[in-house]
Amino acid sequence: MYVLGLESSCDETSAAVLSMDEASGVRDIKSNIVASQIDIHAQYGGVVPEIASRAHIESVTQVTKKALDTAGITARDLGCVAVTSHPGLIGALLVGVNFGKSLAFANQIPLVGVDHIKAHVAAAYLTDPELKPPFLALVVSGGHTSFYLVSDFTKFEEIGSTRDDAIGEAFDKIARVMGMPYPGGAALDRIAYEGRPGAFTFPSPALTGDNLDFSFSGIKTAALNIINGYAQREEELPVADIARGYLESIVTAVTKKIRLALNQTGANAFVMAGGVAANSHLREAVLKLCKNKKVSCHIPSQGLCGDNGAMVAAAGYYDFLTGVRAGTDLNASASDDM
Ligand code: KG4
Ligand code: ZN
Repeated sequence: MYVLGLESSCDETSAAVLSMDEASGVRDIKSNIVASQIDIHAQYGGVVPEIASRAHIESVTQVTKKALDTAGITARDLGCVAVTSHPGLIGALLVGVNFGKSLAFANQIPLVGVDHIKAHVAAAYLTDPELKPPFLALVVSGGHTSFYLVSDFTKFEEIGSTRDDAIGEAFDKIARVMGMPYPGGAALDRIAYEGRPGAFTFPSPALTGDNLDFSFSGIKTAALNIINGYAQREEELPVADIARGYLESIVTAVTKKIRLALNQTGANAFVMAGGVAANSHLREAVLKLCKNKKVSCHIPSQGLCGDNGAMVAAAGYYDFLTGVRAGTDLNASASDDM
């Protein structure tokens, strides 16, 4: 069946059409159109919620039309409309939810409201058509850093999380103060290759003990202090060296907690998803760790790590299979409750 996925939780308006048939193992991306607002928000150094909502309104219809046209279908061919309903920026979410609801209502198509975090994990099903729960998952994004036990396509149990900032915020903030455009995660990823290993060391964002929690406030403050020191002394900032040390500390902390989580849960499959899962240093370290531990490792292709409609359609499809249907009263929610 064809599933339309709509995503508007933050700063990407996206629509995708998937052809899905779990019985015969078909998970095909027919189209995945992403209209990014990054250029608009970059001038403010971060996402401006009101501007995001307005930009979604302007593009959601055209993006959806393009997704349907590229897939070579019309709305009437759809078996399900899946739309991100939570969590995210409330005004941004409302645009997608209301659009999806109207499209489903007008064409008499079942509607499913999708959890954005579950959608990030579902991107892994599209990269690895053989992948099935149970597995351990880590979502690393601009808003989240959490471990989940995924016992079924729709059943998630959170077993660890950040106590303060998300990993993506920690990247974006430091990238910004070092002069990189928003969102700086990808720029920091690239420039770190030019830095000298060990030139700067940072406190670990992995909390001590046998918990699966993180705290990014300490490492962020440490980096800010170093950067401010250079500014005060009017010395040239060693951007690449700082990026290298900062990334090394984060990658070491994340892999340490993944190792612990694998040991504690005995999971033999692991998924890492979310925008930060595009980070090349992190991908390499995690693939190596899983290889050493003989755990099968699944990270969505880089193009499917950031927010996109295909991941929403995939998550919505599995909700649909369990009989979940949203009514015409479907609402958006900013909160994290799954
Ligand atoms: O999942 P996502 O697209 O949006 C949220 O749901 O938050 O994640 C966006 C985050 C941003 O913080 C961005 O800087 C980060 O993902 N990101 C990266 C990389 N590419 C995107 N962080 C580190 N390295 C990258 N290559
Ligand atoms: Zn996201």
